[in-house]
Amino acid sequence: MMTSETDKPTILIVDDEPGPRNALKMILRPFFHLHTAESAQAAVQVLNERHIDLVTLDQKLPDRSGVELLQEIKREHDAIEVIIITGYGSLKSAMDGLRFGAAGYLLKPFNVTELIALIKQTLAKKRRLDCLRHCLLLHSDTKGTPPDLAVAWGQLGYQYSEAGAGQPGDARFGQYSHAVGFLSDVLEVTNRELLNHSHRVQFYSTRLGDHLSLSGIERMSLTLGAWLHDVGMIGIAGPMHGKTGLMEEGLPEDNDRHPDMGARMLLPFDLPAEVTQIVAYHHEQFDGSGFPEGLQGEGIPLQARIVSIAQGFDQIMTGPSPQATGSVEAALKQLRAQAGTRFDPSLIEPFAQIMSDSAAAFSPFAPAPRPATIPET
Ligand SMILES: [Fe+2]
Repeated sequence: MMTSETDKPTILIVDDEPGPRNALKMILRPFFHLHTAESAQAAVQVLNERHIDLVTLDQKLPDRSGVELLQEIKREHDAIEVIIITGYGSLKSAMDGLRFGAAGYLLKPFNVTELIALIKQTLAKKRRLDCLRHCLLLHSDTKGTPPDLAVAWGQLGYQYSEAGAGQPGDARFGQYSHAVGFLSDVLEVTNRELLNHSHRVQFYSTRLGDHLSLSGIERMSLTLGAWLHDVGMIGIAGPMHGKTGLMEEGLPEDNDRHPDMGARMLLPFDLPAEVTQIVAYHHEQFDGSGFPEGLQGEGIPLQARIVSIAQGFDQIMTGPSPQATGSVEAALKQLRAQAGTRFDPSLIEPFAQIMSDSAAAFSPFAPAPRPATIPET
């Protein structure tokens, strides 16, 4: 990592124990400008007074928990990246930290090579996101009408890749990997909670897709479409809407537009038609009472019916509505009650079985006190 003195990023080390704090200082000093803080209060003061690129954050501080401080950092300084450093005993809370926006975590005693690699990777991600924030400010017209909207998104993607901000991409998505990387970064800088919702819906949808023995191409389309199903929310609310739920301030009639908006936003990326169909039709209902087209029964593409169930399940599990339970069985009961009306009845039981069987796998997805809410989309 050859970096000139003036180009060195600045890291804030937050740890109340002198041992780990000094070890981190010794390891990182050749590569970075450093500040240290022994408490959350001291860290907040440094963050308010200095330019900081990245924080290494101990889980246990004398005045607040690391996760609480993480939430404040993401609320007040969302461009600063955070890496959690934790003991084995608090691994679960470190995982919670990822949901609140931490870029990664390291277990104590940390491996020096892993530490440097994670910091380097996180700073590369920060450069991409900073570039994207700048590009998004230049493109406030992502709420335009077609064809302006598609043109605006195409220009944004072009500027992003021209700036060298592209990430290596996820090999699972083949020729679409760079588009996926770009859209992932867009979701992260516009609304992290929407990004988390997208990941959960993708997870649930692919479980059901695997059970139905879809072909490899169908599974890839389902994976992409499930992940992008609500991307139109960005187009509705505007790219810099921000840090909380995108739908909170949206008008109902605007909310109804997000499937169509999302499908149009994806046009410049030349994704498979099945992906666009999922985005366009994930709010159609089995009895024909959904939107935007009022499609009915098997007239709704199968993958869109799958994503409809997955996103309905996630809304019940984590949503802001009073019926949100956080209990898998109670959520499945609510899904079953809508079989044949909102949801395809032939898919509900397989989905319920899969979710019941793998409830233990939900711990990373389980509801937790959150800084923002999942919108009723
Ligand atoms: Fe939606």
